[in-house]
Amino acid sequence: MTTMKAVRIHAYGGVEALRYEDAPRPSPGAGEILVRVHAAGVNPVDWKVRKGYLQDAMRYRFPLVLGWDVSGTVAELRAGTTANGFALGDAVFGRPDLSRDGAYAEYMIVKATELALKPATLDHVHAAAVPLAALTAWQALFEAPKPFTSANLQPGQTVLIHAGAGGVGTFAIQLAKWRGARVIATGSTRNVEFLKELGADEVIDYSRGPFEKQARDVDVVFDTVGFETQARSWSVLKEGGTLVSIVSAPSEDLAKSQSAHAAYVFVQPDRTQLTEIARLIDAGALSVVIEDVLPLEEAARAHTLSEAGHVRGKLVLRVA
Ligand SMILES: NC(=O)c1ccc[n+]([C@@H]2O[C@H](COP(=O)([O-])OP(=O)(O)OC[C@H]3O[C@@H](n4cnc5c(N)ncnc54)[C@H](OP(=O)(O)O)[C@@H]3O)[C@@H](O)[C@H]2O)c1
Repeated sequence: MTTMKAVRIHAYGGVEALRYEDAPRPSPGAGEILVRVHAAGVNPVDWKVRKGYLQDAMRYRFPLVLGWDVSGTVAELRAGTTANGFALGDAVFGRPDLSRDGAYAEYMIVKATELALKPATLDHVHAAAVPLAALTAWQALFEAPKPFTSANLQPGQTVLIHAGAGGVGTFAIQLAKWRGARVIATGSTRNVEFLKELGADEVIDYSRGPFEKQARDVDVVFDTVGFETQARSWSVLKEGGTLVSIVSAPSEDLAKSQSAHAAYVFVQPDRTQLTEIARLIDAGALSVVIEDVLPLEEAARAHTLSEAGHVRGKLVLRVA
């Protein structure tokens, strides 16, 4: 069997569970594409899976390749598969199925419906930073896959985006501005100027005082932090406003008592949305922020950085 280099875990655990090793090169089935991975985006879900936080929802088989953000080229198509119009050698990107082996590897299998053509103006490293975070922002703010609900953000509305400097936040700010909303973003002191440059109309330095003392009557809160930040967010909403979270489902009872709406999104692959995101990138309406690029072998260092919770934009692993 042909082998490839991959970063896998053989059991849940700390960063020491990540092993850079030889693994069997997978073969595509019907409707699937073998992608030669050029770069893999790093997301908090990678270390959450590694630590076993998703084991109630996902039945993983070990060894497991982590990483669910990919940019690469089509390396193999199953004979007789239409593969949604993709051809050998096409440059593609996507956020593949979380229940299967991921992108921390030289090759991975992706369903054709989970991929879109890579934005022509981005190299693979920048493209790998896009799908998961940008799709999450899109689905939370505009249009969620069933059974989830989005905030349905409208032009002219005001949205408070928590953790504006994070992977999801950097896309959320830009997408909300593109939609014509007024954006308030939270960040620590070192990110205040950065968030303004990204397009935020107002920035709240959460390290200098409670955000709820500085924002009020907003239409939408986008909660990307959870816990106490989510609990304190109800008070800044106007009547009938929406608190949408990607960390934990806000309480429906609390929403009712606050005359507000609760929404939760768990991002799903979506080729149409990803194609639109690629179009916005190529049109110059959306930029990609990368804090650091590391070689695949240094996945453990990337996890340590991500877990610390203060990455600006994205971390990317270079594979090819
Ligand atoms: N449900 C879903 O489908 C889904 C999808 C994607 C992500 N997520 C989850 O959403 C969360 C965010 O993801 P991400 O990729 O954006 O994470 P990330 O890139 O790791 O976020 C890091 C950013 O968070 C900011 N931050 C940390 N604590 C903050 C606070 N108390 N208030 C405001 N900003 C704060 C930091 O800015 P400072 O340095 O300025 O503090 C940093 O820039 C994670 O828990 C992730 O697992 C869920």
